[in-house]
Parts: sequence; structure tokens; C-alpha cells
Amino acid sequence: MKILVTAGPTREFLDPVRFLSNPSTGKMGYAVARAARRRGHHVVLVSGPTHVVPPKGVQTVRVLSAQEMFREVRRRVRGCDGVVMTAAVSDYQPRHRAAQKLKKAGKKRWRLELQATPDILAHLGRHKGNRWLVGFAAETQNLVSNARKKLVAKNLDWIVANDVRQPGAGFGSDTNRVVVLNKKGNIFKLPKMSKLQLARWLLGKVEQDL
Ligand code: CTP
Repeated sequence: MKILVTAGPTREFLDPVRFLSNPSTGKMGYAVARAARRRGHHVVLVSGPTHVVPPKGVQTVRVLSAQEMFREVRRRVRGCDGVVMTAAVSDYQPRHRAAQKLKKAGKKRWRLELQATPDILAHLGRHKGNRWLVGFAAETQNLVSNARKKLVAKNLDWIVANDVRQPGAGFGSDTNRVVVLNKKGNIFKLPKMSKLQLARWLLGKVEQDL
């Protein structure tokens, strides 16, 4: 198959030296890309800024902002059989991006106006065709019910729900402890495992479905 994987955080700059982002390191997405390549798939990895080394044989496209990720995903998803969207896409960006560094100028308070970024996965869900879609859900409460809502709202086949507060799970960890849901209504509560093991398990499930 040809699989598009997204990974890492996005950065939303407010001026040339400041941005909004999140603690994602890209490890989960790079593990999915590596595992998919090893299983013989053709892989395109669209990645936000990370220090993780891209796996051999994977076409890697680097982006910074949610808007850039959206553009590259739309451009490269044509001809793909499926998408695994692990990226921690920023939901908002500053409404204005200053061309020069913003100066303190004695301000004690500073109100920053934000505007929504595109929901990339929801867009893919609306233009799904024959593609399968896997999303991730980063949650701090009501893991399963929040993940199920995202699975339905974004028209996904699978969603991997992550309680990002748990030790050994989520941002920056080499391991993950997740609950995986599919559109048929199955729920898999998986034990703690490495992100590479989770990637293999997930790809095995997707392959079985086809
Ligand atoms: N996602 C996306 N584009 C966005 C935001 C999220 O494609 N602008 C994708 C993520 O890559 C992930 C899924 O949607 O696969 C769920 O992301 P998550 O951050 O858990 O949820 P949100 O949809 O952003 O909802 P909320 O922030 O309200 O939990």
C-alpha cells in the first residue's frame, strides 16, 4: 500500500522569534513510518519539527505550521490507500504574524488573538473516497467517550486514544499505553508497549481489515 503518515508538533509563529506549540516529539509517527516501511509499504511522512531521525526508505516532507501541514497532506494524499495521523496539530494560530520581533515596550499584559487552523483529519474524513483513516486522540479525561466522538465526527476507521497524563504514555515517551477503537464498535485496551510495537499492532489490524 501507499501510506501517508503525519508526525510531530506544529509551530504557529506570532513573530520571527516566538511560536505556540506542544510537547510532541514525533516518536509515535516515526515509529508508524518505520513499521509500515518494514512491512513493505510505500510511506510518505509529513513531519513537523522533531529531532527524530527519519527511517530509511521513507519519503520525508518537513513542515512547520498547521497550514503548511494541511497543504502538504492535501497535495500528497492523492494516490494513497490510507493515512495515519499522529501529528499533534495546533488547533489555533495567532491571528496576525508580525514581520518584525514584537517589542515589550513596557506592556504588563498582552492579549493575543487566535484563530482556528484547519482540522486536517476532519477534511480527509469529508473527502475519504476508498482510503482508510487512522486518527489519534490526546485526552486528559473521558478517554473512550472523547475518542469515540472524534472517530465518528472525523469519519475514521480507527482511533488510538492516549491519556497523555499517564506515566509511560504520550508526549516524548518511548512507550505508550492506549485504548484503540474502530468504527465497528470494537475496543482494544492495550498494555504498555513500545511505540514501535504499537505501530506494528495497528498496521496489522488495518491490514486485516482490507
Ligand atoms: N487533527 C488534525 N488537525 C487539527 C487538529 C487535530 O488533523 N487541526 C488530528 C490529530 O492529528 C489527531 C486527531 O485529529 O489524529 C485528534 O486530535 P486531538 O488533538 O486529540 O483532538 P482535536 O480534534 O484537536 O480536538 P480537541 O482539541 O477538542 O480534543
